[in-house]
Amino acid sequence: MSRSAHPAGPRHADVMSEGHYLAPADDLNVLDEKVWSRTVTRDEHGAVTVGGLTVSRLAEEFGTPAYFLDEADFRARCRAWSDAFGPGADVFYAGKAFLSRAVVRWLKEEGLNLDVCSGGELATALDAGMPAERIAFHGNNKTVEEIERAVAAGVGRIVLDSFQEIVRVAHVAQSLGRRQRVQIRVTVGVEAHTHEFIATAHEDQKFGIALAGGQAAEAVRRALTLDGLELVGIHSHIGSQIFDMAGFEVSARRVVQLLAEVRDEHGVELPEIDLGGGLGIAYTSDDDPREPHEIAKSLGDIVTRECEAAGLATPRISVEPGRAIVGPTAFTLYEVGTVKPLEGLRTYVSVDGGMSDNIRTALYDAEYSVSLASRTSDAEPMLVRVVGKHCESGDIVVKDAYLPADLAPGDLIAVPATGAYCRSMASNYNHALRPPVVAVRDGEARVIVRRETEEDLLRLDVG
Ligand code: LLP
Repeated sequence: MSRSAHPAGPRHADVMSEGHYLAPADDLNVLDEKVWSRTVTRDEHGAVTVGGLTVSRLAEEFGTPAYFLDEADFRARCRAWSDAFGPGADVFYAGKAFLSRAVVRWLKEEGLNLDVCSGGELATALDAGMPAERIAFHGNNKTVEEIERAVAAGVGRIVLDSFQEIVRVAHVAQSLGRRQRVQIRVTVGVEAHTHEFIATAHEDQKFGIALAGGQAAEAVRRALTLDGLELVGIHSHIGSQIFDMAGFEVSARRVVQLLAEVRDEHGVELPEIDLGGGLGIAYTSDDDPREPHEIAKSLGDIVTRECEAAGLATPRISVEPGRAIVGPTAFTLYEVGTVKPLEGLRTYVSVDGGMSDNIRTALYDAEYSVSLASRTSDAEPMLVRVVGKHCESGDIVVKDAYLPADLAPGDLIAVPATGAYCRSMASNYNHALRPPVVAVRDGEARVIVRRETEEDLLRLDVG
């Protein structure tokens, strides 16, 4: 699918999308490997397969809608990130993208660390056996109870997000007789080029402590005086779904400047710097994400160069990719329920899920791709909007895409790159039952998060 301006102007089937003409791909049956997980292919009958299993069989066994997660791809991405950064750096998987006990076990086996941001994520991590020292605890308003659990468990670091929290964590640590390793999250004042709801380093938002006006320096001053805290570093996360490394460059430079100021004022060289997550992935063929080794090299070079210039020893770098690890590893499989052509506009394809299993299109105007998965087709491309079954017109899964014109109820269609922030942000809107996550590997499929049932819903409704 191409969103570039059409050289000959719009053809009748093209659509204006985000200021560009969206043209159908030359062959709708071809699966662009950029947006599909690594083991996805079509079998000899044309059906999409993942880990050697066809979608029709998967749909029969597990139902639709469902997320199918390519375990081999997930593990390969973990290894790519940890190999790229090497033993001198740390990769923390951001659990908010998608967390389950199976995922925690894979992370543990692949040598990654884990970033959690709530009591629930912490509980999942600990329950599945992630060693506490490999866990970082984040969040802009951790409750005292969450802080107590994190400190008592012995998490490797807590990332402090406000002046109140500096005191709160110090108090909890002291009362438990601990000295908690902490980082301070700073706001570096970078405008990340992404949707406003997922940009986090400009001044006017809720996260972190601003470098501007000396606030972050003051936070360091306070943290260094408190017995319950061992300040080990500075943290910055500039936003999400970012492709341009320039934002990270500015961020790294400003964080290193702060490290130099801390050294000058306190005679202390903080040993760690965390540059957060936010690396973009391909949702459509137009997205061109960087490989982990390029990102690692570019971040490593920036930090080393800035530290040399400031006369500092290079600190230990950590990063927190969530989407870039899990996002590309899963697709959502839906069954087509209705196909409704609107004369002169487009065809609405209704599926058996919707905004309850993927809120990203409605919330961020996110773009997705979609393919007919249960078979191939030689029919003409048809401009579609894939919509869900919820009671509102904003219930859109894929805003503009092409599917074959012979698409019919009962066909299975798949939306790739739904591994991150889809199941983790799923809701029960209209009392929808949240879909299962099924891990597929080497010809075997197993449910890692089961489908919700009406009993689950009714159990919470205590009358
Ligand atoms: N580290 C911190 C401190 C974060 O706040 C986040 C994401 C990450 C790492 C991981 O970012 P990633 O590599 O996954 O982009 N719901 C939104 C994304 C919100 C991200 C929040 N923080 C979405 O669906 O795009």
